[in-house]
Amino acid sequence: MTSGVKSLLSIGDVERRCHGLLPRDVWDFIAGGSGTESALAANAAAMSRVQLLPRVLRDVSRCTTRSELFGTTVAMPAAVAPMAYQRLVHPDGELAAAGAAKDAGIPFIAAALSSYSVEHIAKAAGPLWFQLYWLRDRDLMFDLVRRAEDAGCEALMLTVDVPWMGRRLRDLRNQFALPGNITAHEHASGGSAVAAHTSAAFDPSLSWSDLEILRSRTRLPLIVKGVLHPDDAARLVESGVDGLVVSNHGGRQLDVAVPGIQVLPMVRRAVGEGYPIFLDGGVRSGTDVLKALALGATGVLIGRPVLWGLAVAGEAGAHHVLRLVADELADALGLAGCRSVSEARELAVFQNT
Ligand SMILES: Cc1cc2nc3c(=O)[nH]c(=O)nc-3n(C[C@H](O)[C@H](O)[C@H](O)COP(=O)(O)O)c2cc1C
Repeated sequence: MTSGVKSLLSIGDVERRCHGLLPRDVWDFIAGGSGTESALAANAAAMSRVQLLPRVLRDVSRCTTRSELFGTTVAMPAAVAPMAYQRLVHPDGELAAAGAAKDAGIPFIAAALSSYSVEHIAKAAGPLWFQLYWLRDRDLMFDLVRRAEDAGCEALMLTVDVPWMGRRLRDLRNQFALPGNITAHEHASGGSAVAAHTSAAFDPSLSWSDLEILRSRTRLPLIVKGVLHPDDAARLVESGVDGLVVSNHGGRQLDVAVPGIQVLPMVRRAVGEGYPIFLDGGVRSGTDVLKALALGATGVLIGRPVLWGLAVAGEAGAHHVLRLVADELADALGLAGCRSVSEARELAVFQNT
């Protein structure tokens, strides 16, 4: 399997290989967006419109992708995005993806809807963060927070753009349901249609005061995921949140939401330099990471590509994807005349219309 992976020279190669392997409904669950998939398409289009103005004669012989996220040194400014039910694409699911992130030297973000328990994932993982949804069952939710802390998670990420799941037409057409052996954290009842399960479990009344409650209930750095408006970003900073993910949820929630990459400069201006901002949506190469850094991101979350790698060759496949991104980022940094990740912020950016 691994030698097969080596011939995949780009994330696009991995995606094509994955497409040929997965059952159609699982492929659609991963690939799909909401509604007409306009936000999904806009993510790719917005990313491709960004162009950078490289610098020369800057001695890039010791160029490095190393970076720091919440006090931890990472091999590149990236983490694996929280993604539910990874056993859908490979029996080792989150265990393999977390192992791949560990080998790649970046954090793995375990989803609240992981198909292995956080304790189990922690055994395979290096730096581990935990993603939370605001659940109607507060006891269950705070118990998850406590379990994540006890398992050694180093940050908590609250996703705020899913009061309920967006209308994913591919899943509705396919009548997509989880196989009975795949459940969240090995304890929820399986076999449910995903949207029905989440709307029963998620609490859409989540508001600013709840954030204060969560802030008071954990000692971990708190990151809020799913922010696009600069005013929301500024208020989150004032609320004592430690970091943001600028994201339209990979085009899976509001179908007409603006791509994160497009509003990233506005969000950066709203929160000031130095505050941790992650960007996700449409990161498909090291050059995309460089674009995000130039536009003001501290780092990126890598989403679907990790699942493609996982589907193709388990842990080796997911690792191959992360390796590709890291190698491409090192290449792009040097070619742009940057010796480090922080110098990428100084690059001039063109956003072609
Ligand atoms: C199959 C799948 C499952 C996801 N599950 C979650 C989740 O449980 N929690 C969450 O905050 N985001 C979830 N996301 C969104 C990702 O964290 C991320 O925002 C998105 O995938 C980024 O877009 P990209 O994959 O196109 O790069 C999921 C995305 C996909 C594709």
